[in-house]
Amino acid sequence: MSQNIKTVTVIGSGTMGNGICHVFAQNGFDVHMMDINQGALDKALATIGKNMERQVAKGSLTAEAMQLAVSRISTFTDMAQAVKNADLVVEAATENVDLKLNIFRQLDEHCPAHCILATNTSSISITRIGAVTKRPDKVIGMHFMNPVPVMKLVEVINGYATDAAVTKTVYELSGTLGKVPCVANDYPGFVANRILMPMINEAIITLQEGVAGVSEIDTIMKLGMAHPMGPLQLADFIGLDTCLSILNVLYTGIGNPKYAPATLLVNMVQAGRLGAKSGEGFYKYTAGSKDLVVSSSFATMQWN
Ligand code: CAA
Repeated sequence: MSQNIKTVTVIGSGTMGNGICHVFAQNGFDVHMMDINQGALDKALATIGKNMERQVAKGSLTAEAMQLAVSRISTFTDMAQAVKNADLVVEAATENVDLKLNIFRQLDEHCPAHCILATNTSSISITRIGAVTKRPDKVIGMHFMNPVPVMKLVEVINGYATDAAVTKTVYELSGTLGKVPCVANDYPGFVANRILMPMINEAIITLQEGVAGVSEIDTIMKLGMAHPMGPLQLADFIGLDTCLSILNVLYTGIGNPKYAPATLLVNMVQAGRLGAKSGEGFYKYTAGSKDLVVSSSFATMQWN
């Protein structure tokens, strides 16, 4: 690897943050997992343990390798302590511009000079984030996909000022994690969400216009296009608030009305129907159940 990376600090221990810690620890890196409260860190450690046990049960990880991986993760609630020896920071906090800008100002202050600052943002401008630091050449997007231990892609995003040597390091590092990196430039939504979100939005408009019901739209896209999940189930999985916020970034950033979020999506978010995490979106989620049940709000969409 162009730059030697041994210690990685991950900021945020939610779904993406704990998945990123999981993958780095499994691949031999010292991982510092940082969050603002210890309760969130304990929950994240339990999730990582549960997900690694799945891999052990499937035979893709040995019990010894799991133990070693878990022992490589330390938890921190203090940012200065968490980053003081870091070679790389991957920020995976909530998708909120002001919060991320604030985190990057602090990272710039506390991280060693050589440290690369990566963000897992799904749509916020890397250039804008880099501009609040004194090292915009070392700021880069490292966009993992959910569930991180399973999904092969890392979208590597160059900000306006990102140094080519930093891109090379992050590209090679992603390969050592068993991922397939792809480099993109910093435009709204980058590549993944610029293409994914209009598809999800169109599925919601298709539902809104009564062209077909929830199950039909998802089944058509699953079986017809070999997608692992239909677009409405995927929207629930990502979070409808996240989908709405990414669509707004595309709509305002590119300025084309084709990205305008579906009214139904806006309404559902306003009603607190955020998908799997809130218990209901296009489907209703019951703890422990893997069966997909269409939300009763869409029952009238059925053809019979
Ligand atoms: N950690 C470790 N392993 C996991 C896991 C996790 N969190 N979640 C699932 N797995 C493993 C399972 O153990 C299973 O392993 P085997 O293949 O060895 O049996 C495998 O993944 C499949 O899981 P399941 O059998 O439970 O369920 P499934 O076959 O329905 O697959 C899924 C689940 C992988 C989530 C699949 O439905 C899928 O690929 N969905 C699409 C996901 C997707 O599109 N993600 C991108 C979202 S967009 C994004 O993340 C970025 C953004 O900016 C919005």
